Amino acid sequence: MVIVEETPKIPTQDQEKLTEEIERLYTNLSILGWNIEACEAIAPYTLRINTLKKEKGIKILAHSYQTADIIFGVADIVGDSLALAKRATEIEEDTILLCGVDFMAETVKILNPEKNVFVPSKGRDCTLADSITGEDVRKLKEKHPGAPVVCYVNTTAEVKAESDICCTSANAQKIIESLESDTVIYLPDENMGKNLAEITGKNIITWRGYCRTHHALTTNRLEKLLKDPNVKTFAHLECRPEIIQSVDLHGGTGDMNKLAAESSNGDKILFLTEQGFIDRMKIEYPDLKFSDSHMICVSMKRNDIFSVYKIVENLTLENKIELDEEIRKKAYKAVKRMLKY
Ligand code: 13P
Repeated sequence: MVIVEETPKIPTQDQEKLTEEIERLYTNLSILGWNIEACEAIAPYTLRINTLKKEKGIKILAHSYQTADIIFGVADIVGDSLALAKRATEIEEDTILLCGVDFMAETVKILNPEKNVFVPSKGRDCTLADSITGEDVRKLKEKHPGAPVVCYVNTTAEVKAESDICCTSANAQKIIESLESDTVIYLPDENMGKNLAEITGKNIITWRGYCRTHHALTTNRLEKLLKDPNVKTFAHLECRPEIIQSVDLHGGTGDMNKLAAESSNGDKILFLTEQGFIDRMKIEYPDLKFSDSHMICVSMKRNDIFSVYKIVENLTLENKIELDEEIRKKAYKAVKRMLKY
C-alpha cells in the first residue's frame, strides 16, 4: 500500500516577489551547498510565512540549532537559550512561535503568560528535560537541606518551579559563583555538573541526565574530527569532562558566537556543538573556516519549514504551550532571577 500525504497548498503568489525570495534564500543557503532548485522549492513557503506572520502578529524566534532555512528564511530573532529568553520579554506581538524544543517555549511562556506561545512540532523529547521530575527535585532537597538548587534551562516548568534559580550554558558559571553556599545542587546535566565543579571549585550535587547529542562526542570521535592542528577547539559545556579538558575553550553557543565575531579572516574553528549552529556561523561569517561537528539534535530537527508553515497558517491548540498557573508562578521566580546574569 502506498499512502501519499497531501503537500500543504499555498495560494498563488506574485511572481516578482517569488523571484526575489528565491534570490534572497540562495544568497545565504548556497553557502551550505543548497542549489537554486532547493531554494525554488521552499521559497513559496518562506514567502507565505513571512506574509502571514505580519498579518497575524506572530514573532518567530529560532534557536541556533534550527535548520538554516528556518533561521535565514523566516526567523525574526535567532540566538542561544539565554538570548531567546531575554528577547522574548521585549516582544510586542501577541503571538510567539518558538522554533526549538518544548522547554524553550515553556520558558518563553513562563516569562510571558499573557502571550500565545506555539511550537511548530510538539513532543517532549529533550533527554535532559525528560530525565528529571519535580518530585525528584523535592527528594534531592530533602536529602541535601540548605543547598541552593540551580536548574539548567533544559528542564520542565515543574522542575524550574522547585528550583531557586535557573541558568543556561551562558551564565551557569556566573550564577554558581554568585551563590554564597559552597555546595550547590545543579541539575539535571551530569557532564555540566562535573565541568562546573571543576571550573568553580564548588561542591556540586548533580543528576544522571545527559544531552544525547553532546554526550555522544567521545575523545575518539574528537580525534577524528581534528584533522588540522591549527584549528581552535571550543566545546559546549554539555560535553563530557574529558572533552572539556582537551579543548582550547568551553562555554555555550552564545560564547561561541562571540568568538566568531571577534575572529580574523581565515581563522579555523571547530565548535563542538550541534551542526545547526555551525551552519549558521558559516553563513554569518563566510571569511572564517568552520569544521563540521556532524552532531545532530534530532529533537531540534523535528521542526522544518513545512511544520512552521502549517502552524503559521493555522495556529492549532495542540501546538500551543499551556502551563498550570501555580507552577508557572513558582517557575517564574527562578527564570526571572536567571535573566539578571
Ligand atoms: P545554549 O543555547 O545555551 O548554547 O544551549 C542550547 C542547548 O540546549 C544545548 O543542548
